[in-house]
Amino acid sequence: MDPSIPTVDLEDIASHEPARVEQASAAIREALGTYGLIYLRNHGINTVDLDRFYDAFRAFVARPEEQKRPYGRVDLWFQRGWTPPNTEIAVASSGQPDFKECYFAAPVEVDPRVAAQYPELYPENIWPDDEPAGFREGYLALGKALHRAGLALLRGAAMALGLPDDTFTRMVEGGPHVTRALNYLPLSPDQVNKGILWGEEHTDFNLLTLLPGGRFYNPEGKPAGPPDDKSGLYLRTRANAEHPQGRMVRGIAPEGCIVAQVGQQLEILTGGVFLATPHVITAPGVPGWTRISSAHFIHLQSNQFLFPLEKFQTPETIRNYSPPVLAGTYAIKTLVDIGLAPKEALDKLGYRHYDRLDAMRARK
Ligand SMILES: [Fe+2]
Repeated sequence: MDPSIPTVDLEDIASHEPARVEQASAAIREALGTYGLIYLRNHGINTVDLDRFYDAFRAFVARPEEQKRPYGRVDLWFQRGWTPPNTEIAVASSGQPDFKECYFAAPVEVDPRVAAQYPELYPENIWPDDEPAGFREGYLALGKALHRAGLALLRGAAMALGLPDDTFTRMVEGGPHVTRALNYLPLSPDQVNKGILWGEEHTDFNLLTLLPGGRFYNPEGKPAGPPDDKSGLYLRTRANAEHPQGRMVRGIAPEGCIVAQVGQQLEILTGGVFLATPHVITAPGVPGWTRISSAHFIHLQSNQFLFPLEKFQTPETIRNYSPPVLAGTYAIKTLVDIGLAPKEALDKLGYRHYDRLDAMRARK
């Protein structure tokens, strides 16, 4: 039997009624501790607006590649604008790039001082010329709504751990939050059932990910229900004695709910009390189907320290999550690992005075 992943009502967290807050806290502890994933009710995402945005995004991705190419910004490590297919690779994957193309935009204000320190993590948004109707407005409205839902859950997560309720929300203020729109590509008849994945198994490197749900399109390009029971989000549960590799569980939100997932940053801060969910997006077993979906990534502000909070420091967690790094350093390293930033980005992490000495010695 499939284990049941708890749902939390965001209004319970905000209610200040002890019984409702405790009910929410218990659901959060069980969901984020065991599965690294939780379903959210009363999240503020309107499905009509979501579908309207997906139509606008679909109109963009339907354009010929040469029209999208100018928005694929290698110089910005693809942190804004279009990510072409065959670009991103999951770190622990078999090396096969994901079968998807994406778009990135930041829906909330960034901290200008931090943006100056990490220009590629905080660039200005890029919007296509001749935008499909509703593209920018729909994008920003969706991102802001998902961000609000995420902050509400982060307050609940802090209370569930017995921390001051603004512990996490304070640490994300002005961070490089980004909303991603995704187009999972159709498989050809000879590609189906060959193990090709829409998204290889990975854990997210940010703090918390919000997934409002996607929309399938049939080979005629019309919105449709799922083509089969194979395609979608699967997560791997925490390993235990009975299941040393964890168990693969389907993540389907109950009607009217959205999904929130723990990222690596939240796992590190909690010393593993909350678990970064390994997850995979499987492709359908039939050709020609596509899926549009979106995700909002909440990040720690880049100068926050990434290490277990004092409450979660034990000899074991200190060993597991050392050495401590800044969230921005962690992001740069990860973006190199997944193929979005160039290897040279890592040189920025080092001691740059060597270069100056070299330059001085080279002068005649
Ligand atoms: Fe992910």
